[in-house]
Amino acid sequence: MTNSTIEFSNHRFDDLSLHDLYGILKLRSIVFNHQQRLVEISNGECIEIDDKDPYCIHIIGKLPNQQIVATARLFDKQSPLKWGRFAVDPNYQKNGFGTLLLDYLDSIIDSQPIEMDAQSYLVNWYSKYGWSISGDEFIECGIKHVRMIKNM
Ligand SMILES: CC(C)(COP(=O)(O)OP(=O)(O)OC[C@H]1O[C@@H](n2cnc3c(N)ncnc32)[C@H](O)[C@@H]1OP(=O)(O)O)[C@@H](O)C(=O)NCCC(=O)NCCS
Repeated sequence: MTNSTIEFSNHRFDDLSLHDLYGILKLRSIVFNHQQRLVEISNGECIEIDDKDPYCIHIIGKLPNQQIVATARLFDKQSPLKWGRFAVDPNYQKNGFGTLLLDYLDSIIDSQPIEMDAQSYLVNWYSKYGWSISGDEFIECGIKHVRMIKNM
């Protein structure tokens, strides 16, 4: 466990600072494009910067030095809510930051129904935090996923 502390906040796209937007996109690029090497397919479905960010609330977790080490985005204008692009900096993974971000998500959605397309390798972990499988496994961006829901 790292001694680093993390502070979470959430922001509409238009309220993000340029520095924070850059930090979010850099972190997602490191995690999804480089660490996980998600496959880009020709219809653009797996392009990391997918034009949906302007319609989301962005959750960021910062270290005291202001480095963004955790992020996710929340589609809050729909029911159920949906979230995704959940990533922790590879240098800080498995130190509890992801769990803290799940707690933070709970605190801002206030028990509203929510869904996500979870990477299958994390199903057992999400299940410990109240998420349930809803549907069959499918392949997205070359990786196994399954729809999971909470508060429904
Ligand atoms: C998934 C992720 C956000 C979790 O954040 P984290 O800070 O590493 O998570 P925590 O340290 O709080 O919790 C670790 C838990 O995550 C799971 N986990 C994290 N990385 C894992 C890996 N590579 N393989 C298997 N399980 C993993 C473990 O099950 C662990 O559960 P435990 O509490 O029972 O030990 C982070 O590992 C990450 O960015 N992964 C790559 C991107 C990704 O998979 N995003 C989620 C898409 S649905």
